Amino acid sequence: MKVKSNPIICGLDVGTTKICMMVARRDRDGGLELISSGYAESAGLVKGAVVNLDEIAASIRKAASEAEMKCGMPVDCVKVGVGGDHFQSYNSRGAVTIAGERQEVTDQAVDQVVLASRASVALPPDREIVHVLPQEFFLDGRGDIQNPVGLFGSQLDVDVHIVTCQKALCLNLINAVNRAEIRVRKVVFKALASAEAVLTKDEKELGVVLVEIGGGGTDIVVVRQNAVRFTKVLPVGGVSFTRDLAFGLQTPVEEAERIKKESGTVLTERLSDGDEPVQVLGTGAREPREVSRRVVCEILRARAMETLEIVADEIRKAEDAGPLVAGAVVSGGGSMLDGMVELAADVLDMPARQGLPRKVKGMKDDLIHPGYATAVGLTMFTMGAAPRAPSPPGFLARVLAWVGA
Ligand SMILES: Nc1ncnc2c1ncn2[C@@H]1O[C@H](COP(=O)(O)OP(=O)(O)OP(=O)(O)O)[C@@H](O)[C@H]1O
Ligand SMILES: [Mg+2]
Repeated sequence: MKVKSNPIICGLDVGTTKICMMVARRDRDGGLELISSGYAESAGLVKGAVVNLDEIAASIRKAASEAEMKCGMPVDCVKVGVGGDHFQSYNSRGAVTIAGERQEVTDQAVDQVVLASRASVALPPDREIVHVLPQEFFLDGRGDIQNPVGLFGSQLDVDVHIVTCQKALCLNLINAVNRAEIRVRKVVFKALASAEAVLTKDEKELGVVLVEIGGGGTDIVVVRQNAVRFTKVLPVGGVSFTRDLAFGLQTPVEEAERIKKESGTVLTERLSDGDEPVQVLGTGAREPREVSRRVVCEILRARAMETLEIVADEIRKAEDAGPLVAGAVVSGGGSMLDGMVELAADVLDMPARQGLPRKVKGMKDDLIHPGYATAVGLTMFTMGAAPRAPSPPGFLARVLAWVGA
């Protein structure tokens, strides 16, 4: 496919622990080339919800300024990743009758059937649809159709996955981005962006679950036959692991974070009695002390087991999606905790691998890290665009229109 110009695509991942901006452009052949990135520590966001507008806006501006400086041009419009446990998803179905003498499915009929699928979900007034993702089309009851345009039939049905959010929480994030002098072109459920960056074509076809363990949350995405079947956000992430350690060892959070990264593992069976004890700073005026590494790792393992067992329960709920032949892919910064991927394979009872963002042209090696999956995925995000998924005529679309996106 030839692309006329070199459109710039900016992805902004506003995470609980870090903000990441990626600037990419489409090359002449439609391929993606990364031309800049910016990073800042995040402040003012808890589990996907803005708790301090000024702080989060300042963090976003810092990441944007770094990206702007590196590529020498202003970033004025972004695709922003949104998430948090206020996201809820449903599977739904829509149906339309194909009119006309020829009874040929047109683009408009596809738009109509996808819009009809939204109507069957009664949303409370504080919620909004973010994505309507077609899974499979049916013509006169015959399924397995990815794109029905041009086919003949009298009734068109579609199964869709609908992702919804709490309006006010999304609006707060859009507002924070605007305060950083950036317009929002599109909001994307960030779990889907990560899926786009780390899952392979084969995995998506065979059946796979992405488990993205971030700082404030864990996102679950089940994809099979190239369609999103199930999504869920759990309010537990790497920050919960660090907090457990801080409480358990009675040490400051920064110290617990250091210990988790330097000495932590969730595979306690691999520890030996000869392991060096861990030096732990005390809180307040308390003296530093030594703690057995086993104690540190038992705390982390307990949280990991609990989290992964909830993930396993959620995947069971999605089981009507069929078997996940390609197993699990574990991404997000939390997947860097030693032993996490192996433990996931054990608890979820399926093969697991670590999910790194796919390398695109111009991407430096330091960005091939599980914590950058969302930001890289935002620049790639096309899910829901194929074959057609009209933008919902809802509140978010109107907000994006107000800001002139
Ligand atoms: N080497 C490591 N060992 C253990 N944990 C790690 C390691 N590196 C990063 N983490 C953890 O990963 C978490 C951050 O992950 P990530 O960058 O994916 O989160 P985020 O995008 O900021 O948050 P969210 O997506 O939940 O809003 C932190 O809790 C951090 O402690
Ligand atoms: Mg994240």
